[in-house]
Amino acid sequence: MATPDPTARLRFREMDSADLDDLAALLGDAGVMRYYPATKTREGAAAWIRWTQGNYARYGHGLWIIETHEGAFVGDCGLTWQQVNGVPELEVGYHVRSELHGQGYATEAATACVEFARGHSEAEALVAIIHPDNRASERVAEKLGMVRVADDLGESFPRRVLRMPLRRSPADAS
Ligand SMILES: CC(C)(COP(=O)(O)OP(=O)(O)OC[C@H]1O[C@@H](n2cnc3c(N)ncnc32)[C@H](O)[C@@H]1OP(=O)(O)O)[C@@H](O)C(=O)NCCC(=O)NCCS
Repeated sequence: MATPDPTARLRFREMDSADLDDLAALLGDAGVMRYYPATKTREGAAAWIRWTQGNYARYGHGLWIIETHEGAFVGDCGLTWQQVNGVPELEVGYHVRSELHGQGYATEAATACVEFARGHSEAEALVAIIHPDNRASERVAEKLGMVRVADDLGESFPRRVLRMPLRRSPADAS
């Protein structure tokens, strides 16, 4: 399966069961999961891997492991289909180990995912669906060039949605 191209500091690879220790630590970290309903247990992290592998099989993409060129685990980042107000939208998602926050890793990885989506998906646009208090995540989406659109009202609270087109409009070509 194709993965996004490597970046200056990161490479992408498929997630598998050998990543359980790293993912259980990442998704069990209260700081990383601050804007989720709860941290994930080890079984929850295993289910995350199974969901991701299902996405690879069904769509040819999903979340990928992001790691340094030396193989050090950084987190995950990738492309999944999500519902926004009842409409399927391709989302770029990212989770970075707490110790590595603020070094530009999420933006670097997500930028490679934008390019991958342009080349490997029929989607017209890419979104990021974000808890309203998650300023770091919103900032990453802004740095990708996304702009805020109508909130998603499908959860118990309105989630912020930022969006960017993946295709040039006919007007751009003139
Ligand atoms: C969101 C997340 C992936 C960002 O990872 P990262 O590698 O630190 O991101 P980057 O370094 O590329 O960019 C972060 C930006 O947010 C800014 N930022 C971080 N915390 C902030 C805060 N509390 N308020 C305002 N800006 C903040 C940084 O300054 C940076 O912007 P800048 O480059 O303009 O200075 C990371 O915080 C994370 O893993 N969070 C937990 C998981 C999560 O919430 N994922 C998103 C789900 S929607």
